[in-house]
Amino acid sequence: MNKLTIRDLDLKGKRVFLRVDFNVPIQEGRITDDTRIRESLPTLTYAVDHGAIVVLASHLGRPKGERKPEFSLQPVAEHLSNLLGKPVDFVSECIGELVQTAVRSATPGSVLLLENLRFHKAEEKNDPDFARQLAEGIDLYVNDAFGSSHRAHASTEGITRHIKTCAAGLLMEKELAYLGKALTQPDRPFTAILGGAKVSDKIEVIENLIKIVDHLLIGGAMAYTFLKSQGRRIGISLCEDDKLELATRLLAAAGARSVRLQVPQDHVASLSLDGKQESNVVPVDIPDGWIGVDIGPQTILAYRQVVQGSRTILWNGPMGVFEVEPFARGTMDIARAVAEAKATSIVGGGDSVAAIHQSGVSHKITHISTGGGASLEFLSGKTLPGVAALTDKL
Ligand code: 3PG
Repeated sequence: MNKLTIRDLDLKGKRVFLRVDFNVPIQEGRITDDTRIRESLPTLTYAVDHGAIVVLASHLGRPKGERKPEFSLQPVAEHLSNLLGKPVDFVSECIGELVQTAVRSATPGSVLLLENLRFHKAEEKNDPDFARQLAEGIDLYVNDAFGSSHRAHASTEGITRHIKTCAAGLLMEKELAYLGKALTQPDRPFTAILGGAKVSDKIEVIENLIKIVDHLLIGGAMAYTFLKSQGRRIGISLCEDDKLELATRLLAAAGARSVRLQVPQDHVASLSLDGKQESNVVPVDIPDGWIGVDIGPQTILAYRQVVQGSRTILWNGPMGVFEVEPFARGTMDIARAVAEAKATSIVGGGDSVAAIHQSGVSHKITHISTGGGASLEFLSGKTLPGVAALTDKL
């Protein structure tokens, strides 16, 4: 990466604005998954150990410019303080006099967490004056929020116009290194497994990956759009009828590049999505009135074989309705196959990360990305504004 990283900075006694992605699920004031907070600890500890005054900033949810208590970052400050084993001073604003006073009186090695950036509409609008206020009294900027780096917001992009030195944090660096190597210098064979509900969510990723991968394995509901475009019967499975032509075009593009693109050859089909009615394994055509809910055993076998022979595996999107126990097998078996493969394995996207955790094999995955939308945009070959804005290495 041709950008400065936190390791290039002299942090001692400096006031560092550290943009993190603490957009974590919170239910009744309790954090239900703290992965993103834990993943930011190496950068945070590095900054503290090197004598910085750390000013943490993040968004949480989508409060749309309103100060809504359920979107306050206060519970995160308490949780972070427990993880760090040191106090984290919560500041109930992210700009203005309250912040200035807290930053001025903080001593080297201390950690402040500002209130949710999105309590101000100006954050998402990338308002220049708001960005300037965020930068007030700050010496250095570090962005460790890979999950937000596809957003050109005031705290990820605008602020960098007001601070001379802007660097990547260690998590940002790690994410870009793994995803970047997969796109530019993958060990081969390189297999991408793409699932999830809609082809439309993944068009640009598929288009870009077709230029790079050796194998593309398709699962999840988006497989039915591909199957229908090939003239197969799909019952009442989810399908984007306006994307049938696109699916045909993607299949042809894969063929033209000798990418071995596979769609399911059998399915688990059911009369309903809730797991309460009859379900059966059916061959490639799904009968009328039935819904495809998971990949079938022949498909699992075929996909496992490809995965086992791969040296790089990229997985985004579940193979079926894995949240419903009877329909989870395809996703769980693929998760285990990915974990057992002698390959660099990269998993991204909220649902596939949840599936990997559910399967109990997450510790065997080389890299689990903290970015949902950000990792998809990166894999589509797009420039991430939050990365582009950082200072180039000389
Ligand atoms: C995410 O959860 O993907 C990031 O935190 C970005 O959140 P956003 O989609 O609300 O911008």
